[in-house]
Amino acid sequence: MDKITTTIRTEKEIHSEIMNLVKEWHAVKFAEKKFIPGQTYINYAGRVFNEEELLNLVDSSLEFWLTGGRYESLFSEKLNEYLRVKHSLLVNSGSSANLLAFAALTANELEKINRRLMPGDEFITVAASFPTTVNPGIQYGMVPVFLDIELGTYNIDVSKLEEAISPKTKLIMVAHTLGNPFNLDAVMSIAKKHNLWVIEDTCDALGSTYNGQFCGTVGDIGTFSFYPAHHITMGEGGAVVTNNSILKMYLASFKDWGRDCWCAPGKDNTCGKRFAWELGSLPKGYDHKFIFSHIGYNLKITDMQPAIGLAQIEKLPEFVQARKDNHRALLEGLQPLEKYFILPQATPQSDPSWFGFMLTVKPDAPFTKQDIVIYLEEKKVATRNLFAGNILRQPAYTNIKHRVFGNLTNTELVMSNSFWLGVYPGIDKLRRNYMLEVISDFCKRF
Ligand SMILES: Cc1ncc(COP(=O)(O)O)c(C=O)c1O
Repeated sequence: MDKITTTIRTEKEIHSEIMNLVKEWHAVKFAEKKFIPGQTYINYAGRVFNEEELLNLVDSSLEFWLTGGRYESLFSEKLNEYLRVKHSLLVNSGSSANLLAFAALTANELEKINRRLMPGDEFITVAASFPTTVNPGIQYGMVPVFLDIELGTYNIDVSKLEEAISPKTKLIMVAHTLGNPFNLDAVMSIAKKHNLWVIEDTCDALGSTYNGQFCGTVGDIGTFSFYPAHHITMGEGGAVVTNNSILKMYLASFKDWGRDCWCAPGKDNTCGKRFAWELGSLPKGYDHKFIFSHIGYNLKITDMQPAIGLAQIEKLPEFVQARKDNHRALLEGLQPLEKYFILPQATPQSDPSWFGFMLTVKPDAPFTKQDIVIYLEEKKVATRNLFAGNILRQPAYTNIKHRVFGNLTNTELVMSNSFWLGVYPGIDKLRRNYMLEVISDFCKRF
């Protein structure tokens, strides 16, 4: 009888074959589809990727480390390098990033310098918010103080900011609306004068700069989202960044159950005295891995998410450029329709990495926002509202304890008259021109 010889292939050989199959899969499954005007839906945002994201994702899953590891460190380093910031921590969403940024400022250690956020304290924000920019403060029992936004930039109206501050104010927590930086000079100087923390919700503004500095790195803490609608994606995911090494320690602790130990997942004894600590009224030598110095959460990420993110962040400069180009082209193309719309304006001293193109139907226009939005959606052009509109009108927020400073006139107008269009890199010149054509056809009816 013939002897059967089986060849056992090496890990490397099998890995290489899987990777080749992934490339083939990508080419077939995600082959580019032709754009057919009026039939192909032009989304407001979406994933833009090639085989590299899939290769990294499969590589990470084959490694089967699962929790944050090699890819998390690599992505974090790249993000720090890109943003020119000292520290970044990855979390499972932009909302978690906001929660974590907020929680770090409730650290008991901050009591010594009278800057610990406490229930009953106030924080300043805007009523035209994404819910999870304001939720952490409300959930903790703080009182939001809502300011209006400016038309055109759709950012916090800083002319009222200083007046809105009371002896209870401890924090300013606002977003850079649709990628357009808020007036960081004014916010930072008022915050410094009144000893307030600043959390920059940069979930929609990765790559935007103000005075040449990246948004998210100017305030005490910045937050980012990597949900598919955002500048780069890892499915679900987010990051918190800071240049403050003490805040970084609190962030790391609140992210990882509130523990005192700072070992990475799967590592032990990074401090070199795992069984020699004596903290609180715990027995001397109690395992540092199980000492909790904050009332924390688990907001950690898996390693498969930053594996995707690592391929995405390599593309970030070209993504940012595409967003800027699309925004500029839409702005130029819609200039002749200025009698109907308030067109978007970049905040002075800023270079926005736009998230969307905002249009406000002027109150005296011969049509309503509803009319044009329905028309655009029929013509397969996606539109979006500015998030929650006036958040105080949302069912969940009608009875919250809050203060409104001044009026919310512009917020109200934005809720009823504004909508935004996509500028994401999946929109090319053909799609952009189609969008312009459809808007102009609509306006020609009046
Ligand atoms: C300004 C702002 N903050 C926070 C978030 C929350 O991010 P995530 O969806 O990753 O939780 C979003 C979501 O789009 C956002 O637009």
